[in-house]
Amino acid sequence: MSGHAAPVPMISTAQGPLLGEAHVPGDKSISHRALILGALSVGETRITGLLEGEDVLDTGRAMRAFGAEVTRDDDGTWHVHGVGVGGFAEPAGVIDCGNSGTGVRLIMGAMATSPITVTFTGDASLNARPMARVTDPLAQFGARTHGRAGGRLPMTVVGAADPVPVRYAVPVPSAQVKSAVLLAGLNAPGETVVIEREATRDHTERMLAGFGAEVVTRDVAEGREIVLTGRPELRAQDIAVPRDPSSAAFPVCAGLIVPGSDVLVPGIGLNPTRAGLFYTLQEMGADLTFENLREEGGEPVADLRAKYSPGMKGIEVPPERAASMIDEYPVLSVVAAFADGPTVMRGVAELRVKESDRIAAMATGLRAAGVEVEDGPDWWIVHGRGAGGVAGGVQAVSHLDHRIAMSFLVLGLASDRPMRVDDGAPIATSFPVFEPLMTALGADIRRGGA
Ligand code: S3P
Repeated sequence: MSGHAAPVPMISTAQGPLLGEAHVPGDKSISHRALILGALSVGETRITGLLEGEDVLDTGRAMRAFGAEVTRDDDGTWHVHGVGVGGFAEPAGVIDCGNSGTGVRLIMGAMATSPITVTFTGDASLNARPMARVTDPLAQFGARTHGRAGGRLPMTVVGAADPVPVRYAVPVPSAQVKSAVLLAGLNAPGETVVIEREATRDHTERMLAGFGAEVVTRDVAEGREIVLTGRPELRAQDIAVPRDPSSAAFPVCAGLIVPGSDVLVPGIGLNPTRAGLFYTLQEMGADLTFENLREEGGEPVADLRAKYSPGMKGIEVPPERAASMIDEYPVLSVVAAFADGPTVMRGVAELRVKESDRIAAMATGLRAAGVEVEDGPDWWIVHGRGAGGVAGGVQAVSHLDHRIAMSFLVLGLASDRPMRVDDGAPIATSFPVFEPLMTALGADIRRGGA
């Protein structure tokens, strides 16, 4: 929610090795989609393993405001009684998506082809992020939008009463934009076509098909083309949300840089559109193995084992891999600081428009902690100082960005002196159990200390 909660200063300090198992929570991307598609279905969708982070809870509240019934059992099972495609009611109040770009962009898409008017807002981070990337294609469906300068939230979307289907080539690599167009296409007659140059996470396509929509994906000269047939009857589903690879990244990376560590992170999806970080770490020489490889719900899944890896080398991360690890660059830059030589990350302009400008936020904190970083509009280079080579001993600014806060807390587990972050409160948006989970492995992470 967009309330300005008091900042929660946090501090992390190197102590013994990290040992044991880390059961990370459900996938944030899939959790948002489960609630939204459940709300657009007929019947009752049952969701287990839903991420109960603030971002997803905000999406759940929004679905209630659009008329769906969303409830939670004491055992953590969620139930969504949907209103069907085209059945969204006009919310009585403003829809507050808190910190979540995924939440607001997907919900805007889902309502843009219904004859309702909705005003969206968020926290200071979300209200600074670009929305034209979704409002441009939604206008082609016939929706109208009125936002602040630069297409920023708060923004009112007037849904199209008579929507037309759209053929849209996504100009930036963004699963959020692709998903907004597909969700809008649900209530447009005929075929909505999305073309993406680079493959981004494909949960929306997979889940739409699971809910009974006709979705065809094929490789074309321009990249990947996804064709959705509008006005399907979505049928309620039972969904078991897999654990989030983007959250797994934090205990995995901590295990690689803290001496003596051996961390097992069970049940992590290795969907190729999400797993880029793990292959990158292996190329750097990390002792990271995929154990018990199996298939669950049609997706490859493994238990990740990360052991302390003092000999890692900096590498050039292939730019074509960026979309499959876009949320993991902050914590990769921390591992890179403890590797030997430079790690070069190119083709990552999108990092500048996430919950914060993640290149600027990480570069500033890393430099203060004694690491040389170069950066440009869509690239950055972290000059690794080798195992045990990072001074730390400073306070980093999290800029309302959960992944920045967690990345610097991981850095402090292996730096010479403790790392502080000014505000760890945003961690609750995606990984509410980060602190107890890391502490149970043996990490010294605590509140206070700013
Ligand atoms: C997401 C897509 C990505 C990612 C975000 C989740 C999604 O954003 O950074 O955390 O669930 O679709 P972009 O689509 O802006 O790249």
